[in-house]
Amino acid sequence: MGGDGQGDKPLVRFEVDDGIGIITIDNPPVNALAPGVRDGILEAIEKGEADPAVKGMVLMGAGRSFIAGADIRAFGKPRPAPRRLTYEALDGANKPVVAAIHGYALGGGLENALACHYRIAVPSAKVGLPEVLIGILPGGGGTQRLPRLIGLKAAMDMIVSGRHVPAEEAKELGIIDAIVPGKDLRQEAIAFAKEVVGKRPLPRVRDMSAKLAEAKADPGMFEAMRKSIARKARNQKAPYHCIACIEAAASKPFEEGIAIERRLFAELENSDEAKALRYAFFAEREVAKVPWLPKDLALPQIKTAAVVGAGTMGGGIAMSFADFGFPVKLVDASPEVLAKGMDRIRNTYAMSVKRGSLAQAEMDKRLALIEPVESYEEIADCDAVIEAVFERMPVKKEVFAKLDAVMKPAALLYSNTSALDIDEIASATKRPQSVAGTHFFVPANVMKTFEVVEGSKTSPVTLAAAMKLGRDIGKISAYAGNCDGFVANRSRIPFNLEQGLMIEEGALPEQVDKVMVDFGYPVGPFTVNDMSGLDISYDTRKRRAAADPTYRGLPITDRLVELGRLGQKTGKGWYRYEKGDRTPIVDPEVHAIIAQVADEKGFQRRTFSDEEVLRRLLFSSVNEACKILEEGKAIRASDIDVMWLNGFGFPRYRGGLMYWADTIGAREVYNQIASWHQRYGARWRPSDLLREIAESGGLLRQVEGRMRR
Ligand code: 3HC
Repeated sequence: MGGDGQGDKPLVRFEVDDGIGIITIDNPPVNALAPGVRDGILEAIEKGEADPAVKGMVLMGAGRSFIAGADIRAFGKPRPAPRRLTYEALDGANKPVVAAIHGYALGGGLENALACHYRIAVPSAKVGLPEVLIGILPGGGGTQRLPRLIGLKAAMDMIVSGRHVPAEEAKELGIIDAIVPGKDLRQEAIAFAKEVVGKRPLPRVRDMSAKLAEAKADPGMFEAMRKSIARKARNQKAPYHCIACIEAAASKPFEEGIAIERRLFAELENSDEAKALRYAFFAEREVAKVPWLPKDLALPQIKTAAVVGAGTMGGGIAMSFADFGFPVKLVDASPEVLAKGMDRIRNTYAMSVKRGSLAQAEMDKRLALIEPVESYEEIADCDAVIEAVFERMPVKKEVFAKLDAVMKPAALLYSNTSALDIDEIASATKRPQSVAGTHFFVPANVMKTFEVVEGSKTSPVTLAAAMKLGRDIGKISAYAGNCDGFVANRSRIPFNLEQGLMIEEGALPEQVDKVMVDFGYPVGPFTVNDMSGLDISYDTRKRRAAADPTYRGLPITDRLVELGRLGQKTGKGWYRYEKGDRTPIVDPEVHAIIAQVADEKGFQRRTFSDEEVLRRLLFSSVNEACKILEEGKAIRASDIDVMWLNGFGFPRYRGGLMYWADTIGAREVYNQIASWHQRYGARWRPSDLLREIAESGGLLRQVEGRMRR
């Protein structure tokens, strides 16, 4: 059934077992609802309805999941209209249909399950309506059925957040009728179906209305929801359209609500935000692929890990392991640093418990997985070790020499450096093939970007194991070639420089911050500087200036540091702060300091348009990203977008740095950069690759790195 499966294998099977018709969807990898799957489900239901031997039916998925939703690749393209909707066929069936869920029931998958008369799930199953995360809304009746089943507020929470709900919570909410052991889901589903075959009337979610009364008790709930998402959802339509649909569910008959859902879905499907978010979805899956690594590479199992260095970074990395159930040893030669590090970890977890995002028992479990140790000998047996000591080459090399001396031969040796040469680090060992960079972002236990840096001698196994390790601890692993700053930071550095230079030329921190927040960043770059501390890069700048007489420093930032304005921690930085409050307040003193330094240095100051601010910051990074690709240090432009989305707060609904640049057009980006090159000199030298793309009319986001291998 459902024609276009691979080879002769049907996408949907229908078998009768013990009086129950079993409809099995078999469209690997995630049983997405391709047209053939929808047709197959329809045919199967009609068969089951027509067969007197069939008393009830079960809808289930083969492989690892129930149904992960509509086929996202088909959005934005013309689709054949189905002769009948599966939701209507399931819901209208005169024999009970039971959805038996394992793995994921997401989007259209859950919507089909909601159209069934009963739902059972295995304990590990997850359900959700994550459409909003790809810029659309549940378009298969989800916005109308879910509120009828679990209430308006609970449905709104699920649909507007798009979160995955675990089976147990789904049962409490009323989405799932029963949780079954899942030892043999098919037989458990048959047993459940046999129990309900005689029950009439069939429970149809579309006919339920009791839960909709919530709106009468709390008519302001929709407005309150809009207000609560205003900051996060700015510049986006989908979350608001989701709320509008649920509001319709509260006040309109089912069919009218469905019509509204359909209209608003159609409005969103081809919106800019939906296109960008779909791009981001696939880019995040593509980034995992390193094309030259053999698919069948046997990877060592990493069961135990160690982190060297119990500072903020090392502690965060240790937490990343513990958060995903890995035992990890945290080693530091200094008992004081170790004790402080463990305290910091404990406090961070305790804060999550206080906020209600972590259960005390879970905190205890995670803490128990982190074992502080004082000597390298105690980690010798670990499968992988991540060095997270001070970012200075001699210190790193000393650590790697020690690791080389103690670690078992098969151990993988990773360095959490954000910029240093992996080859030089590896040269401190006699096994450079086992060394690679694994660059965590700050805070390591929160940020998802995870750069895996390949040295010239890194073996395929070491590289592939690092990519997998990142994924195993919930990160998004991305390949980076060995160069100063690797891919993420290197592409970001020009942004930071232009940010500082624009202030010299006449822009003000609050203008730059406002432009970037309006663009979609959660906070502006100067506010971020104040959060992380202005002194962080002060030393680096001084060091670089001492080593290179042509080095272009940032005298205004330096002056702030010298005046003790280190950011939030001193109550003053680019802004000032009231005691105990992190809200940045524009400070005329900063304006005066800027004017004074500009005067001393003879900077010409002028006004900037908001557009110029945005373009100066982002075009500089687009140019650098092109140079990175040109040098073969990144595999794809879309990998850089993934890093920006998950490492630098770039607004997801704008796709990423390179995707956004395409919305302006490579030619215009190139022309602007070329004109700034004339005006500002060498730092704006346009990348050759950018010029080529501009001339050919191609898309930056589709550029592949010119890998030299
Ligand atoms: N459509 C098309 N392809 C999909 C897909 C989908 N809905 N879901 C996953 N895939 C593909 C991925 O691109 C990937 O392909 P690749 O191997 O070629 O890179 C492959 O399936 C495996 O996916 P993951 O690597 O993401 O596998 P995981 O096991 O890590 O995660 C998942 C599984 C949680 C199901 C995750 O894939 C996911 O979140 N999928 C999207 C779910 C979703 O958004 N559903 C709603 C769709 S919209 C909808 O249903 C509209 C309806 O309301 C009308």
